[in-house]
Amino acid sequence: MNSKLIVAVAGGIVLCVPVIPRGEMTTITAADTEDVFQTARRLGRGINLGNMLEAPNEGDWGVRFDDSFPSLIRDVGFDHVRIPIRWSAHLVDPQATSIRPAFLRRVREVVDQCLAHDLRVVLNVHHFNEIHEDPAGQTKTLQNIWTCIAREFFGYPNQLYFELLNEPHGKLTTQQWNQMFPQILQQIRQRHPTRCVIVGPGEWNSHRELPQLRLPVEDRLLIATCHYYHPFEFTHQGAEWLEASPPPVGRRFPASRQEPAYIAEDFENIARWSRRHQRPVYIGEFGSYSKAPMHDRVRWTELISRQAQKHSFSWAYWEFCSGFGVYDRKNRSWKHELLQKLMLNSN
Ligand code: BGC
Repeated sequence: MNSKLIVAVAGGIVLCVPVIPRGEMTTITAADTEDVFQTARRLGRGINLGNMLEAPNEGDWGVRFDDSFPSLIRDVGFDHVRIPIRWSAHLVDPQATSIRPAFLRRVREVVDQCLAHDLRVVLNVHHFNEIHEDPAGQTKTLQNIWTCIAREFFGYPNQLYFELLNEPHGKLTTQQWNQMFPQILQQIRQRHPTRCVIVGPGEWNSHRELPQLRLPVEDRLLIATCHYYHPFEFTHQGAEWLEASPPPVGRRFPASRQEPAYIAEDFENIARWSRRHQRPVYIGEFGSYSKAPMHDRVRWTELISRQAQKHSFSWAYWEFCSGFGVYDRKNRSWKHELLQKLMLNSN
C-alpha cells in the first residue's frame, strides 16, 4: 500500500496528512485545501439522485441508478449530485457494526461513476428513521455507519463530500444533535482531515433552526446545510407519503403578493447567519411535487434558484427523475421548463 505524508494548509492550520490512496495514486491539489467557501461554491448546481439508494432496497421505489445518469446530468450543466443513502437498511450483525459488502460495493460503483463524469458527490445518511425516535439508543449505530463509510472512502479525492445525517427531527432536536455529531465528526477526521463535511440543524434541516446549530469552532472544513420547501402547502400538495394528511392539491404559487417577499426574507436570514458565523451554506434540497400545477412550479423553481444565486449558495434540486423530478425517464427527456429555471445564469 502506498503511503506518504503531505503537508496541507487548511483554514490557516498546518496539517500533516497521511495519504494512503485506494487504487490509483491520489495527490492533494490546491483545490483540496482551499478556503471552505470556495469548496462549497464548487458544488454549484446539483441534483438529488432521490428514490434510488435511500429506498429500503434499490428499485423498491421504482427507480434504480442507471449508468447513463451521470453523463445526462453533467451534459446539461449540473456540477454535482447528492446521493441519499439508507445505510441503516444494510447493516449486517445485531450490533450493527458493519454494512453488507455488496451494498458498499454498489454505493462505491455509483460514486465512482459520478466522479468519473466530473460530478462532485455529496454522500449522506438518509432515512435513518430509528435515530429520530431514539437518539440515545441509536448513536452508536450512526457512529458505526460512519466508521464503515470513512473506511470505504478513505483516499478518495476531495470532490467527495460527506453529509452527516439527513433532516434530524422528532426526538433528535438540534440541541441533541449538537451533542451527538462532534464525536462522529472527530472519528471521520481521523481518516479524512481535509474533506468537506456537511451538517444541518434539526426540524428537518429547517433554516429556522440554523441559529441553534453549534459547529465546532476548530473545524473550518464544515458546510452548513438547510432544505427549502416553503410554502409547504404548495410544494407538498397531494404528497401521499406524508404521515399527516397531505396538503390539498390545487394550491397555487404565489398565493399572495407577499409570498415571494417572505421567501426572499428567509434567504436573507440564511445569508446573515452564514456571514455572522463565517460558514458557507448549502441548500441540499428544494423542489415541488408533480401534483402542483407546472406553471407555478416553474415560477417557484425560478424564484428559489435566483435567491440561491443571489446569495452564492450551492444547491441540489430534489430530485432527478421521480415525483419531484426534472427528468422524465419514460420519455427520456428533460422537463425543459423546470430545467431552464434551474440553469438560469449558467456560467
Ligand atoms: C425525503 C423524501 C421526500 C423529500 C421531499 C426528502 O428528504 O427523503 O422522501 O420526498 O424530502 O419531502
